[in-house]
Amino acid sequence: MCGIVGYVGRAQERSAAGGNGAHDALDVVIEGLRRLEYRGYDSAGVAVVADGAVETRKKAGKLGNLVAELEQRPLPESLTGIGHTRWATHGGPTDANAHPHLADNGRLAVIHNGIIENYAELKQELRAKGVTFASETDTEVAAALIGDMYRGAAGGDITKAMQLAAQRLDGAFTLLAVHADQPGVVVAARRNSPLVVGLGDGENFLGSDVSGFIDHTRRAVELGQDQIVTITPDSFVITDFYGRPAQGKEFEVSWDAASAEKGGFPSFMEKEIHDQPAAVHDTLLGRSDAQGRLILDELRIDPAELKQVNKIIVLACGTAAYAGLVAKYAIENWCRIPTEVELAHEFRYRDPIVDKNTLVVSISQSGETMDTLMAVRYAREQGAKTVSICNTNGSTIPRESDAVLYTHAGPEIAVASTKAFLAQITAAYLLGLYLAQLRGNIFSGQIKDVLADLGKIPEKIQQVLDNAEPLRELARSMKDEKSVLFLGRNVGYPVALEGALKLKEIAYLHAEGFAAGELKHGPIALIDEGQPVFVVVPSPRGRDSLHSKVVSNIQEVRARGARTLVIAEEGDEAVREYAEYVFYVPETPPLLMPLLTTVPLQIFAAELAQAKGFDVDQPRNLAKSVTVE
Ligand code: F6R
Repeated sequence: MCGIVGYVGRAQERSAAGGNGAHDALDVVIEGLRRLEYRGYDSAGVAVVADGAVETRKKAGKLGNLVAELEQRPLPESLTGIGHTRWATHGGPTDANAHPHLADNGRLAVIHNGIIENYAELKQELRAKGVTFASETDTEVAAALIGDMYRGAAGGDITKAMQLAAQRLDGAFTLLAVHADQPGVVVAARRNSPLVVGLGDGENFLGSDVSGFIDHTRRAVELGQDQIVTITPDSFVITDFYGRPAQGKEFEVSWDAASAEKGGFPSFMEKEIHDQPAAVHDTLLGRSDAQGRLILDELRIDPAELKQVNKIIVLACGTAAYAGLVAKYAIENWCRIPTEVELAHEFRYRDPIVDKNTLVVSISQSGETMDTLMAVRYAREQGAKTVSICNTNGSTIPRESDAVLYTHAGPEIAVASTKAFLAQITAAYLLGLYLAQLRGNIFSGQIKDVLADLGKIPEKIQQVLDNAEPLRELARSMKDEKSVLFLGRNVGYPVALEGALKLKEIAYLHAEGFAAGELKHGPIALIDEGQPVFVVVPSPRGRDSLHSKVVSNIQEVRARGARTLVIAEEGDEAVREYAEYVFYVPETPPLLMPLLTTVPLQIFAAELAQAKGFDVDQPRNLAKSVTVE
């Protein structure tokens, strides 16, 4: 889950002031690292090739530490550079363990994202040849192996050395290397870890994702599995690990640079909370016709096969799994297909019952979560059809699934997921409605009505955002609380879980979400005088409303001293007398309520964490995409 940038430019263009083309490598690399820092921030480092040598600087901690180091010890101007921002796996977050790692007497520099599983045996083998190591990392072993190949079988060709080394490595890796003997060249290898090439004019780029070079170009090539790419200022050549020609997939980046910035908010998380009307709107865009029929062209599974589906399993982790729980209620309601939701890391190790009539729906913002990827692979091996709901175009999970339904939330930079969650729920609703349409479970008029209701959600979210100041005040007043509980029922239950998760991850506060009906079976013992309890109350409208049941739950906790903070639907005056505080969301059909009731809980968590002075975008111990099991 590290961030990786590579750059090569052409000298003559750089001297043509104001023209296209090359920049100073260090500037490009540092800019790219700034945008990629969300991928890991344990340390950062750069290497440039200049004057026949490789020079590096690296520093533990956030990128700012490296920038300060570069001010003290500047690097020479260069047209070839690589940069890395790290989330530690092998070896703690120290200067020595920071990337790049050097080999071939300091003439070769390597950066790496992923885990090399057979590094211990390779290290032994290299030690026996007299290689010494300065760090505890698996990356240094990869660097030494590439160096060994460079001096040996590759005959001084860095691309060949990378190919030969990649053949020997097990695990997940993106590796980038530069060599002092080959200025103007960066070579990279990819297995189970992301890598994209950015195509410039007289300059080319590499990045873990497009944010690494989004300021410079929108033309990109996504590398396939087990591929090597060599970039020079005017070319990119892709091969497999054995040097056979291979192809990537060219695409145009639709995100603009500004959408990757904070947009005036104090944090990316705040910005992303405010992006939610657009995230839901864009995810709905172009997915139905004027008659209100769902058109999901990207879902390339034969409709006849989808009609045969007799079980759905939703696989995901964390917040994405809570989106899956919401989806379960909707899909079962609309499609009458039994739907299970399982944490991806649990699924694969319990011999699940999966066959060709099982539809496995994975949900992942990043598309790179290793637990989810492995579960999807396993399900495919068992013959299931796999659909990925994903926010990241070209990432591994959708590439390895039979079909994909992209959410259009744009880049999510804050580690704590917000807009991706709402977009995931929206996409899952679309999938549920599509299946219902295909199988004839509900009338087309009903589908049209639900789509119309979904269409009104963005403006309702906006209302929630616009009315949130009292909630922010409440959050600030609660910054010294030690514990907050969350209750919900039906679709309100995953909302309660998500509210608690947000508070844990960014405010480092004990928080638990419960199904409100479960309270009396144990958790009610936690309630003590003054214990704050958020309750997500369902609409009082409708035949099967659970409203009165949840009101009883509120009374149960209040009777034991709890301070009840209620999220309810506009017009629900009945809850007032049971609540210390009520936040109203606009009316909407019960199944769609999570798209509104989650938002106040996100705002509450963000405000409280900010009041505590925490960095809400980069909470401790967490990284944006978890690409190890
Ligand atoms: C919580 C959060 C995580 C992710 C989880 C899955 O705010 O962001 O729980 O939801 O790690 O990540 P993706 O969706 O990228 O697979």
